[in-house]
Amino acid sequence: MTAASGQTVQRVTRQIGVYGKMGFLRIGPLNVTEPTTDRKPHALITGASAGIGTALAREYARRGVPLVLTARRADRLQSLADELSAQVAVTVLPADLADPAAPKALFDQCQNLGLFIGTLVNNAGYGVPGRYLSSDWETHRDFLQVMQTGVAELCHRFLPAMESAGYGRILNIASLAGLVPASAGHTLYGANKVWLIRFSECLALECRDRGVNVTALCPGFTWSEFHDVNGMRGNVSKLPGYLWQDAESVARVGIDAVEAGRTVVLTKGINKVIAGLSKYLPAPLARAIVSSKSKDFRDAD
Ligand SMILES: NC(=O)c1ccc[n+]([C@@H]2O[C@H](COP(=O)([O-])OP(=O)(O)OC[C@H]3O[C@@H](n4cnc5c(N)ncnc54)[C@H](OP(=O)(O)O)[C@@H]3O)[C@@H](O)[C@H]2O)c1
Repeated sequence: MTAASGQTVQRVTRQIGVYGKMGFLRIGPLNVTEPTTDRKPHALITGASAGIGTALAREYARRGVPLVLTARRADRLQSLADELSAQVAVTVLPADLADPAAPKALFDQCQNLGLFIGTLVNNAGYGVPGRYLSSDWETHRDFLQVMQTGVAELCHRFLPAMESAGYGRILNIASLAGLVPASAGHTLYGANKVWLIRFSECLALECRDRGVNVTALCPGFTWSEFHDVNGMRGNVSKLPGYLWQDAESVARVGIDAVEAGRTVVLTKGINKVIAGLSKYLPAPLARAIVSSKSKDFRDAD
């Protein structure tokens, strides 16, 4: 039985490779899992109280994976747990990830409950509107704690048990914003997503021989509370419908990708076109296009 069904981990070894003059070159994912634990792998999802996080929780539950849900709004998490607990075991651990003590507290609570976190989903996130100096330092400090330091710490704390078990999944919810040129406004957001993609790539390389798959999922515009929270709903609602995707399909693509051991994954055809143009157009032209369009989704005042 596979871990995706929430059962005890068993060995599944797959190597895809080619032999060439340089020797054996591995080009595909590895799913190497050993029955070194009889504890069921749980999926810990940050930001599970809304949007993509809620959709991920529903999709993991549908696949039979027991859940640990965290976010600040405990009432939202509890009603999601009530909805899903007929399908799988659900543990609710409310936390404010802007608190530097939160990642360790979450880890300790999982340890005390005897839970093996086989899947870590770093999803919690938001954007800070305006130019860099229009928010105080404390706002940016909290953003970096939630979106960067906290993510790095959660990976550092939960990864050792995954490696010991020879099985793990880390799904980092990055963004198309990490694959397109910079634009003014929401200054740390794109920079953070670039960091998250590179961090995921490094971890994926370090972990691939240890049974742990790491994926940076890069959604584009997704229906959720994200643009209500950052105050851009009025602007983004004028964007064409073909740019948008529902949170449920983002969640399905993300879980399939981390199960398959894919490292950087776009969620929709149009996003692949945008990322491809960003990569292959001359940089000044790509920057000029994104800069002129960015007022539709970025507040730079
Ligand atoms: N929507 C998009 O267009 C889009 C596109 C690309 C990437 N993304 C990324 O997708 C991820 C999820 O965003 P979403 O679209 O689902 O947004 P959302 O609907 O606003 O959900 C954001 C989640 O993050 C949690 N969160 C925010 N601040 C937190 C904090 N201090 N501590 C703990 N949890 C916190 C929120 O929970 P509480 O408020 O209850 O704490 C909520 O559950 C983010 O990383 C975002 O950058 C979104």
